[in-house]
Amino acid sequence: MRKKKAGIVGCGGIAQVHAKALAGSDFAELIACADIRPERSEAMARQYGPMNAYPSLEEMLEKEPIEVLHICTPHYLHTPMAKLAAKKGIHVFTEKPPVISWEQWMEFLTLEQEKIRVGVCFQNRYNRSVRYLENLLASGKPGKILGARAFVTWNRNVPYYTESGWRGSLTTEGGGVLINQSIHTLDLMVRFLGRPQAVEASMANRHLKGVIEVEDTLEAYLEFPGADGLFYATTAYCADSPVLLELVCENVTLRMEESEVTCLWKDGQKERISFEQPVAQGKAYWGVSHEVCIADFYEAVDRGLPYQNDIESVKNTAETMLAVYSSAREGRRVTLDGKAQ
Ligand SMILES: NC(=O)c1ccc[n+]([C@@H]2O[C@H](COP(=O)([O-])OP(=O)(O)OC[C@H]3O[C@@H](n4cnc5c(N)ncnc54)[C@H](O)[C@@H]3O)[C@@H](O)[C@H]2O)c1
Repeated sequence: MRKKKAGIVGCGGIAQVHAKALAGSDFAELIACADIRPERSEAMARQYGPMNAYPSLEEMLEKEPIEVLHICTPHYLHTPMAKLAAKKGIHVFTEKPPVISWEQWMEFLTLEQEKIRVGVCFQNRYNRSVRYLENLLASGKPGKILGARAFVTWNRNVPYYTESGWRGSLTTEGGGVLINQSIHTLDLMVRFLGRPQAVEASMANRHLKGVIEVEDTLEAYLEFPGADGLFYATTAYCADSPVLLELVCENVTLRMEESEVTCLWKDGQKERISFEQPVAQGKAYWGVSHEVCIADFYEAVDRGLPYQNDIESVKNTAETMLAVYSSAREGRRVTLDGKAQ
């Protein structure tokens, strides 16, 4: 595979994971990075270079022959930065979430018409436990899914918000625990159950009143075809407990707690499978599959193959997330097909 020339915009926390995955890889050459805080891009260039550091995306794209742009900036910038790159014919690999509003989602969808590839970093789709469940469900053994529940009970306190000013603000983060911490879990629920027909949700700020203007707690009732999903996420807990996703099926109840899957078969048989995962780069709760998610994108670009995390594959997740927020903000049940399809 010919190495693609890569650039990173936003050189904060998660960008380090991208840089590590690119530097020394056999699929990419990291040639430049940009951050409005020049000390951050310069530090990245020193650590993962040789490469050039820039104080803005515009300047980097003007001066460097970048083929793949990694977007690791605050949420509200993902869509405009993706559009800027796409106009220049540069492939885009963006951190989650792709968008923060219905308006941005309409714009993000226009990227489908550009002659570039777009990947969204939902790396947990690559977790071995998730793959196992997908294969098991596809085998037909579990039968139909009758219902699901998800619990994300984590802790984010004042320093998390003060260390990066964009967090906690509606205009820059776009929301709180749903759009930021638990979107991966919503993504998996939607991948297993399909597109919900309607959602009803409520949200609150329980423990950081006066500190953040976004929700730290959100619950949603999701009406999937033939099954209902209960979703609860909070960052007001005292610890980062393992995320629970449970699928009640006709023949078995499947419980995934990060890398562990428990199968409680109807005949009383109980299986517990622990999937060895390589050690996470960065914080353990970010998950461990960034590297494979990124490598897979480059392979798809190089060989013209479909990419698992393309725009089409994130439609249901993005639209469900936006519908849940519409419901929680407006205090009413929201049908998805009344909104953008
Ligand atoms: N996939 C995951 O599991 C995962 C984990 C953590 C973070 N993320 C996502 O990564 C993104 C960044 O999060 P983070 O925790 O690294 O944040 P961060 O605040 O640590 O880093 C963001 C960086 O972007 C820079 N920036 C801001 N505006 C810019 C602009 N206009 N041009 C260039 N640089 C700019 C900031 O100076 C900062 O260095 C978010 O979208 C977040 O949701 C994803």
